[in-house]
Amino acid sequence: MYSGNELRDMFLKYFEAKGHKILPSASLIPKDDPTLLLTVAGMVPFKPYFQRRVEPPFPRATTAQKCVRTPDLEEVGKTARHHTYFEMLGNFSFGDYFKTEAIPWAWEYITEVLKLPVEKLWVTIYPEDDDAKGIWEKAGVRSERIVGDPENFWAAGPTGPCGPCSEIYVDLGVARGCGKPGCAIGCDCDRFLEIWNLVFMQYNRDEAGVLTPLPKQNIDTGMGLERIASVMQGVETNFDTDLFRPIIDHVANLAGVKYKDNPKSDLALKVVSDHVRAVSFMLSDGIRPNNEGRGYVLRRILRRAVRYAKLLGIDKPFLESAFRIIQRDYAHAYPELKENENFILNHLNLEEKNFLATLEQGTQLLQEKVKGLLKQGETVLTGTDAFYLYETYGFPVELTEEMLAEQGMTVDMVSFQAAAEEHRLKAKEQSQQMRAVAESPELAEKAKSLGMTPFIGYEKVSATSRIEGLFVDGKEMQDAGEGEEVTIFLAETPFYAESGGQVSDVGFIRTPRAEARVLEVKKGVTGTVYHRAEVRTGVFHIGESVEVEVGNSERLATARHHSATHLLQSALRSVLGEHVQQAGSLVTPERLRFDFTHFSPMTPDGLRAVEGLINEAVLKNMPVQATEMSLKEAKKSGATALFGEKYGETVRVVHMGTFSQELCGGTHVSSTGEIGLVKILSEGGIGAGLRRIEAVAGLEALAYFRSLDDQVMDVAQTLKAQPLEIGKRVSGLMTQVKDLEREIGQLQAKLAKNEVEGLLSRVREVEGIQVIAAQVHASDMESLRQMADLIRDKMKSGVIVLGAVSEGKVNFVTTVSPKGLSGLHAGQIIKEVAKITGGGGGGKPDMAQAGGKDPSKLGEAIDRVPNLLRGFLKK
Ligand code: ALA
Repeated sequence: MYSGNELRDMFLKYFEAKGHKILPSASLIPKDDPTLLLTVAGMVPFKPYFQRRVEPPFPRATTAQKCVRTPDLEEVGKTARHHTYFEMLGNFSFGDYFKTEAIPWAWEYITEVLKLPVEKLWVTIYPEDDDAKGIWEKAGVRSERIVGDPENFWAAGPTGPCGPCSEIYVDLGVARGCGKPGCAIGCDCDRFLEIWNLVFMQYNRDEAGVLTPLPKQNIDTGMGLERIASVMQGVETNFDTDLFRPIIDHVANLAGVKYKDNPKSDLALKVVSDHVRAVSFMLSDGIRPNNEGRGYVLRRILRRAVRYAKLLGIDKPFLESAFRIIQRDYAHAYPELKENENFILNHLNLEEKNFLATLEQGTQLLQEKVKGLLKQGETVLTGTDAFYLYETYGFPVELTEEMLAEQGMTVDMVSFQAAAEEHRLKAKEQSQQMRAVAESPELAEKAKSLGMTPFIGYEKVSATSRIEGLFVDGKEMQDAGEGEEVTIFLAETPFYAESGGQVSDVGFIRTPRAEARVLEVKKGVTGTVYHRAEVRTGVFHIGESVEVEVGNSERLATARHHSATHLLQSALRSVLGEHVQQAGSLVTPERLRFDFTHFSPMTPDGLRAVEGLINEAVLKNMPVQATEMSLKEAKKSGATALFGEKYGETVRVVHMGTFSQELCGGTHVSSTGEIGLVKILSEGGIGAGLRRIEAVAGLEALAYFRSLDDQVMDVAQTLKAQPLEIGKRVSGLMTQVKDLEREIGQLQAKLAKNEVEGLLSRVREVEGIQVIAAQVHASDMESLRQMADLIRDKMKSGVIVLGAVSEGKVNFVTTVSPKGLSGLHAGQIIKEVAKITGGGGGGKPDMAQAGGKDPSKLGEAIDRVPNLLRGFLKK
């Protein structure tokens, strides 16, 4: 029997023997692909080759590709074959071979290498694909075993390369089927299992859904490793293969249950085993849990795993132990599980811990809600409530839905979407968004035809170029004049387009008769550089030659901050440790912002040390050099790379002496001395395990110290002190202030005492009981209570009601002493008194306090005390 690992290797070796290059799996984060959140198929990394945006470096490749798909999340565990994370085995032709080779190879592999019995196999084709039919027949498939299926057309997303496809199915036998009369190939049940899809990639689909032929015909195939393993190992579901069993057994063990004992716990075990695989691999590619995009997908899967584990009775953190099993079984094929172990464990543990805590709180809240609803005979939770659970307790709405479903209830999804949308809009308003490139179809078409704009800005900041495209409001123009806002494409450009956290250059485009100010520069998906500019004078014409000039002072200021960012990253790693990873950055002419992974706040000493290292590196005036090399060489030389860089690529590595090597496309100073002083302004947390540092360099550091200096001078002048003595003077003043405060406190106490004595002389009797009811001066409840205590000590027996106005509101205190005097209750008395001023409160029989809203009613409330007491005494 073949293990999952063996099946993976056999596939790759078979196609290697057919001239394919074996490549490692690409990251789960699709590179430069805004149309996809995650890698969903083996072909994803090869889209640029199919589209010929990039010349394929080899004609054929074969991979085992890590994939994540979530549309069927709810199905996971319920069927034999649905997963979030899975491995896809595939062979690819980039304009090289086509159906005539792909089909017989697939057939040979299935029937002769894997030796699956021909009588159990079926093939589906795209209905009019007679070509494919003929080739299958020639390969040895009986014609009645080849069926047309109109759904046999495959694409990785709404746009991009696609084509008709052809699938191989295994008939697992009647016993595995639904038993319905019409059950045949194509039925949704578990009897017919699709194991391999061959896609004849020949079209590109655009935003409008229009298909245009690709430059060449390609092959993309995909066979799910887990599925083929279940067939080859003769087990009932993918979960029973050796790819899953160790994890299932581990989790079952933790939960104290047995797999295959009870359908409910089996479902949970399957879900958990699927999800911990997904979570481990997503983290190993550098995805971190958060609230949007793929980070949200990860968070949702992780939380689902925790919740299903909880259903099994696992209440304690368990993800790390499950990850260890995955690491043990998969790290030889996917070394990132080892290489990024720290990152994975840090996020895994933190996220799990946080979620367990919120789960506890949220579950209680939800249960209360459910109880309330059931009492009213309702079965629908409002979207607002569901959104509250999401916002406050991190409950994915899908989780809420599932928890409710267990009680036969649902969520009002329409109002949930509305609440989410409202929240999104608010959040968007709050964050000032960079203006995105306004992409009209015409503009996009032009960019595509022009392709990548050569960047000459590393060497120079001014050049002669040519206007290749001129657009106003998304419409192509022959010319554009004064006052117009234009998008310009140039033949080549020294302008750096916003990327890698570095903001774009600004500057000018000129002819002898016209000038435009370049405000923002962006790069489109085709590599074309968009210059957004405003025509200041004259008229620009398409095709004309122009002088372009990057704003040098901005460029230099940005470069200082960018180079300082590299020094910062290096310094952080040497002070805090190698776990520090860049998580985001912003580099502008004014400052730098650097986000990184670290799990506790930095100490002042740590920050000083980092700042010290950076400035020493500046003073060493080390040369800054950029070299191009393969990613492999770069990693070998120890360069810091972000996650998700792809194999086979040439990368640019920026060296600063031996202090820092980083993969980077940005613009830098030519030696570190040019950076000038670097000053860290702040360090703080911005999310689980994420910190942010802000700093300034060069002239901005000077500006920072000047403003500090100005403030010191101002303060010194006010204090009439020497600048360096203001510290001493201020602490002297603080002592003085404290003395004064103490004195004031003493005086106030004396005043209160006098007031108390005055009040004592105004005791009156109500039905033989001594009563003091008065409006007094007291700045807060505490001093009012102290006053009442003082009076009580003197009066021994009786009732006291004091009221005072403080900050526009009313405070009351009432005492009854001794406790129970004539059946009176301080809490009841004060409730009635406070009511008159529009307030409420209560307390114990001997002492109570309350608040009121309307100070103008205080006098009336106090005057009514005797009457109120009489009322109570009568009862
Ligand atoms: N890209 C094809 C699929 O995922 C092979 O089915």
